[in-house]
Amino acid sequence: MATTSPMTVPASFEATLASMRKKLKGIVPDFEIQMKAELAHQINILKKELNAIILGHNYMEPALYHSVPDHTGDSLQLSSIASKTSADIIVFCGVWFMGETAKVLNPQKTVLVPSEHAGCSLAEGIHAEDVIELRKRFPGAPVVSYVNTYASVKAESDYCCTSGNADKVLKYLFDQGHKRVIFIPDEYLARNTADQLNVAYLAGNDATGENLPADTPVVIGWNVHCEVHELFTVQDVENVRRQHSDVVIIAHPECHPDVIAHVDVTGSTKTMIDYIKEVDAPRYALLTECTMGDNVAAEFPNKEVVRACSLRCKHMNQITLEDTLEALKKIQYKVELAPDIIQRAKQPIDRMIQIR
Ligand code: 13P
Ligand code: SF4
Repeated sequence: MATTSPMTVPASFEATLASMRKKLKGIVPDFEIQMKAELAHQINILKKELNAIILGHNYMEPALYHSVPDHTGDSLQLSSIASKTSADIIVFCGVWFMGETAKVLNPQKTVLVPSEHAGCSLAEGIHAEDVIELRKRFPGAPVVSYVNTYASVKAESDYCCTSGNADKVLKYLFDQGHKRVIFIPDEYLARNTADQLNVAYLAGNDATGENLPADTPVVIGWNVHCEVHELFTVQDVENVRRQHSDVVIIAHPECHPDVIAHVDVTGSTKTMIDYIKEVDAPRYALLTECTMGDNVAAEFPNKEVVRACSLRCKHMNQITLEDTLEALKKIQYKVELAPDIIQRAKQPIDRMIQIR
C-alpha cells in the first residue's frame, strides 16, 4: 500500500501470518506465505528492538511488501519519509541509490540496504565527470539529475527530481527563463518530459549548444535507459488491447516515447497506484516492473489488474525477507558517504522534495 502514514505491525506470529494470508491469498502460494511469515515476524521483533524503520519501494516482492515495511511508496514518498524519521536505523528495501538519498537527507542515521548488489542501470550509466563535462559544453545550463543516480552525481547537480515531479522541476526552470536545461541520465524520461512540456530535446552526449537557436527552450539529455522499462514495446501495448478492449494501460515514463504515445496514462509508481485507487475502470495493465502488478492486485482485490507480465528488475529482486533479517541482525550493508558528497548532494535533493 503506498502510504505515508505508518503501517501497524502485528505483534504475534499468528497475527503476522493472518494478515499476510488476508492480503496475499491467490497471489502467493500458502506454503510460501507460511515460510515468509516466520521471517517477517522475526524482522518485526528486531525492528522494534533496534528502533529501526523499514521503507519498502513499490517494486518489492509481495510477501515483503505486504509484511515488514512501516511505509511503502515511490522514490519521492520514501525520500521524504527518510528525511523526517526519528528512528535510529533506516532499512531501505529498494536499490542502492535510494539508500544513498536517505543517507544524504538524514546523515546521522544508520542507513542499511539489505543487498550490496542492488544497483540500477540508470545510476550506473552516468558519473560525476560526465556532469562536469556537460556543464563545460552547455555553460549556464542548470543540471537536473534523476533520483536514479548515485550521490556523487547528485553532488554535481543543481536539482534532483523523480518521475513523480520531473515535469514540475523542468517547468520551474524554464519559467525562470532558462533556455537550456540538462536532464540526466534517462533518455526516455527526458524525452517524455520534454514532449509533455512541448519543449525540444537534444542528446547531450557529444553535442554542443552552438547550433541551437538562442531563444528555443531545449532539454539536453544523456543516453542511458532503464534495462527493464526499455523492453516494453508498442506491440506489447497492442497485444494487451487486443485481448482486453476495455483496459486502461498505465506506463512508467522510463518507457520509450513510442510506447508512451500508445498508452492511456503515464506516471510514477505512486501515480499508478493513485489512479487505480481513484478511477474505476473494468481493468488496468501496468507497464512497469511486473511485481508491482501483484502488489496492486493484493492491495485492491476488487479491481482487476492484468498480470501477464514477467519483467523483473534484477536489482530490486536482490532484496528479500531473508536479506532484510540479516541486515538487521548484522547491521549490514551500511550506506557510507563522504561528508563533502553529503553536503553537496543535499541541496538538489532538498529541492526535489520541495517541488511537488
Ligand atoms: P518511482 O520513482 O516511480 O518509484 O520509480 C523508481 C524506479 O526505479 C523506476 O524504475
Ligand atoms: Fe533502475 Fe530500472 Fe531497476 Fe528502476 S527498474 S531500479 S530504473 S534498473
